[in-house]
Amino acid sequence: MSEKIIKSADRVKNIGEVFTPQKTVDFMLDQPEIKAKVNSLTATFLEPSAGEGAFLVEILKRKLLYAKTQANGKKDLQNKFLQALSTLYGIELMEDNVEMLVMNMVNTFRDVYFKTFSPEEQNQKILNSANVIISANMAQGNALTYKTATGNPIVFSEWKPVGKSKVQRTEYTFESIVNGNGPTGTVQEHTEQLDLFADFDTEPEEPKTRNYVPVKWEDIYKQLIE
Ligand SMILES: C[S@@+](CC[C@H](N)C(=O)[O-])C[C@H]1O[C@@H](n2cnc3c(N)ncnc32)[C@H](O)[C@@H]1O
Repeated sequence: MSEKIIKSADRVKNIGEVFTPQKTVDFMLDQPEIKAKVNSLTATFLEPSAGEGAFLVEILKRKLLYAKTQANGKKDLQNKFLQALSTLYGIELMEDNVEMLVMNMVNTFRDVYFKTFSPEEQNQKILNSANVIISANMAQGNALTYKTATGNPIVFSEWKPVGKSKVQRTEYTFESIVNGNGPTGTVQEHTEQLDLFADFDTEPEEPKTRNYVPVKWEDIYKQLIE
């Protein structure tokens, strides 16, 4: 079956929407400089016009494959799967595309997870934490204005490994990252981002700051704050 690369002529004209065929994605990701970043559990990727995830989904598959070569046992591999996922970020303007993007990332992670771990080894906390990471890392918004669909600043989370099995989540506005103030800088603004797993007609909340406590990778889903 041939791949669908456009949805409508109007969308191509208005938002430049043309999806990249798998063959082209593979060719680009096979380039040595990119391959080196894909074969890393810490190198991050941001797709500022992510579409339905042609690149992010393939990078996720490849990073999960790489994680398998790096893990020290099954428990460690579950953490490394989440770590690999946490390095992938996307921004997409159109609501229907973001829904597909999130669904494709969730399904890709779950498919690989279920194929890798036996029913006895599977841990629902890992899948719940994967959903939280995907929700935090995939933003519906305009990459040029740094704003979400609801007019709030786009916010991304840094997921920094702490010790062998913990992670520290820190939020930065996309604008502060682009301007070189994050994630290593001092400017840290925060406002509530559209929750991609929530109802879409909820009102945006007032800006507020959240300080997350370091947790085990599998406990990310708890979103514990100080
Ligand atoms: C050429 S398509 C590429 C999609 C995807 N990267 C791929 O390769 O299949 C461009 C995408 O960018 C989105 N887009 C257009 N303007 C945007 C903007 N200002 N911010 C974020 N996304 C945008 C469109 O909705 C479309 O999905």
